[in-house]
Amino acid sequence: MTPECTPRFLASDNTSGICPEAMEYLLKANQTDDLAYGNDSWTARAADRFRKMFDYDCEVFFVFNGTAANSLALAAMGRSFHSVICHELAHIETDECGGPEFFSNGAKLLTSPGVNGKLTPEGIEALVTKRNDIHYPKPKVISLTQATEVGTVYSREELLAIRAVADKYDLRLHMDGARFANACAALDATPAELTWQVGVDALCFSGTKNGLAFGEAILFFNRDLAEDFAWRCKQAGQLASKMRFIAAPWLGLLESGAWRTNAEHANAMAAYLARRLASLPGVSLMFPTQANSVFVELPPVLIDYLRQRGWTFYTFIGAGGVRFVCAWNTTTELLDDLLADMETGLRSLT
Ligand SMILES: Cc1ncc(COP(=O)(O)O)c(C=O)c1O
Repeated sequence: MTPECTPRFLASDNTSGICPEAMEYLLKANQTDDLAYGNDSWTARAADRFRKMFDYDCEVFFVFNGTAANSLALAAMGRSFHSVICHELAHIETDECGGPEFFSNGAKLLTSPGVNGKLTPEGIEALVTKRNDIHYPKPKVISLTQATEVGTVYSREELLAIRAVADKYDLRLHMDGARFANACAALDATPAELTWQVGVDALCFSGTKNGLAFGEAILFFNRDLAEDFAWRCKQAGQLASKMRFIAAPWLGLLESGAWRTNAEHANAMAAYLARRLASLPGVSLMFPTQANSVFVELPPVLIDYLRQRGWTFYTFIGAGGVRFVCAWNTTTELLDDLLADMETGLRSLT
């Protein structure tokens, strides 16, 4: 980055700050002392609010981050000799440093390719039926990411088709909902329609990417899977002693509806960026932009130029290419600045 440039952030929805609704509740929770380890009133209210919003009497837990949520949920969904079927680009496979295998004491991830970052019923079936001998880790869980690592979404029909395979082979369904809110907004669907109504057993729902400082909710619709889960969280160092400071901001997102409007905004910004990028020469979109991430192929000299101009983005996520992620506070002004730099770069460098 050249010294006169300030950093500008489109690398991840993790680079955004805390949204006002979450901050308001955080400050409210800070006005009084309360019980520790999740025995406080904020945690109870947030869990009840999730049950209301999902229209389901699910078990609710809070942890600090997404890797822990996925790893611990998956550990609870199978045993050490089982396997978890996921897409080859799944975060649990590529970006969790072996956490799911570690916390499950060795359960293996079996990966499948699939267009636009999505598992298919055929791909899942191929892995399940590949072998059934004692030497093969027994498939027990399917893990889907909604929205996917490449910014696409599974439709309800696609989810139902995957559930049908799960039923055929007695598999459980886990959903990595790092961008679950964005998927609900993209599909104009309720949380219930994209989870228990299509047979999801457990959802890891990210608040961090939706406007919190940190904090993920794990929802078990299959309540049997939640047996002793609190102990699993504690052992993994994921039982927050001051849990109210995760739960209260979550309640702020849920009660205000910001969980949804934040996601709608982020998706709209990504759609705006994708539309404008598609019209630039030398720039090609790699995937349909359906949620809040935009993946593009750019000439290497342009990538260098944008970095010098202070733009932050990743080039190693998903299928490669440049990933721009919009968040609850992304503005069209920021995106216009990026597009202007791209146009200048393309004119002068290519
Ligand atoms: C698809 C997906 N799952 C899970 C996570 C959670 O990761 P972390 O452990 O960094 O919160 C992320 C974060 O980038 C993600 O993109």
